[in-house]
Amino acid sequence: MIDIFDFSPKVDDYAVMGNPIGHSKSPAIHAQFARQTKQAINYTAIHVDLGGFEQAVGNFVASGGRGLNITVPFKQEAWALAEERSERAERAGAVNTLIFKDKKIIGDNTDGVGLVRDLRDNKKLELQGRRILLMGAGGAARGVLLPLLNQQPAQLTIVNRTPEKAKDLADSFSEMGKVAGCGYEALAGQSFDLIINATAASLRGEMPPLREGVIAPPGGACYDMMYASKPTAFMRWCQEHGADRVYDGLGMLVEQAAESFYLWRGVRPQTNEVIETLRQEIK
Ligand code: ATR
Repeated sequence: MIDIFDFSPKVDDYAVMGNPIGHSKSPAIHAQFARQTKQAINYTAIHVDLGGFEQAVGNFVASGGRGLNITVPFKQEAWALAEERSERAERAGAVNTLIFKDKKIIGDNTDGVGLVRDLRDNKKLELQGRRILLMGAGGAARGVLLPLLNQQPAQLTIVNRTPEKAKDLADSFSEMGKVAGCGYEALAGQSFDLIINATAASLRGEMPPLREGVIAPPGGACYDMMYASKPTAFMRWCQEHGADRVYDGLGMLVEQAAESFYLWRGVRPQTNEVIETLRQEIK
């Protein structure tokens, strides 16, 4: 029965699922987006046991949930669960956004567009015609390749500790743009306008084996897809080896969230003030 005296707006449920999920910034980011755009949404973080992903999504949909963000380690499972996928999700082999619409599960991946928006719109970095080095050949690198290639760089080189993985990844994107894969040794004598770190090295305080001279002077920029209260080992190395500009991935985090919000709500939130608030919070 409809309560005719209940004038409160209907609140739509969204969540992020992952394991671990305790430190996720997504609930705070989406709460700010919702306030800013006056959207009536409720966004929570859900810890999902390994092996329990499909069940957890089923429960969320059954309770009326409208959309999910998916993080480590479930992005590939989310890809498999999606009944329809965007091209960027298809290519990424991973899904970070699920949309429940017309009884269908639709999968998208907003990581790559989040990275590109942060580089291009926030940091004002030109990507077209530039030489880009993407470090790492795991899920994080695969997830951003198509949107990066869509920016038409002069060359996109994927470098990896295990060179075969970089070569295989480059091969699988070869018809999408000028992309090649190699090991760190093969970078000798080459320099790049932009170096993006998509390895897991920063998580462990490690620095991939980059050589002196790899950052093109002048104006070379470096971007770590990780973020932390202090610069990562990669960011410090770049600062000491001639980079003009060095960034962490906080902006990418907010931009990928903004794209998910847009997919769900059809409204594009302002990101600058949210990035600024988070920056203060992680200090
Ligand atoms: P993710 O999904 O986060 O990309 P992953 O699939 O485990 O995680 O991939 C991690 C990536 O970081 C790989 O490219 C890995 O290199 P290898 O394929 O050679 O293992 C890279 N990586 C991790 N630690 C690194 C380090 N200390 N130096 C260089 N590369 C590193």
